Amino acid sequence: MVPFDLQLIRIFLHVLAATIWVGGQFTLAGVVPTVRGFGPEATAKVARAFNRLAWPAFGVLVLTGVWNLLEIQIGDRPTSYHMALGIKLVLVAASGIGAAAHVVSRSKVALAIGGSLAGIGALGALFLGVWLHG
Ligand code: HEM
Repeated sequence: MVPFDLQLIRIFLHVLAATIWVGGQFTLAGVVPTVRGFGPEATAKVARAFNRLAWPAFGVLVLTGVWNLLEIQIGDRPTSYHMALGIKLVLVAASGIGAAAHVVSRSKVALAIGGSLAGIGALGALFLGVWLHG
């Protein structure tokens, strides 16, 4: 068991925010077909409610991610760690940009591309995050 200290809080907050950003997107995708049956405005209302949770979580991910970087003695890590971290940060950016594009798009194609980028980027960042910590 790791000590009960600030490092534990750092990882806890990072993982908590990841569960909301990543898990929330998959949950939303899963419930949208049902929500559509509640009326023409229902999906947009649920999506707006989700955004009010998801974007603060993304902010916490970036803040605690920077906190992670300050704590891990990055210079002592092997090249493989730096490569995985670089790819993870590209995926984080893709996830954030994809989600933002999804929020503002009006066309079905742009909505689908933005949504896919948000989900795939988030999943990849989650996978590499667990690998980095491992
Ligand atoms: C979609 C956004 C993100 C997701 C889903 C995510 C997910 C994760 C997860 C699940 C871990 C493993 C925690 C553990 O097993 O203890 C992790 C670790 C890490 N994350 Fe993130 N993260 C994201 C964004 C970021 C950002 C923006 C940064 C840097 C600015 C970052 C830097 C790190 C670092 C350096 C670690 C390793 C920490 C350690 O070994 O102590 N992450 N991330």
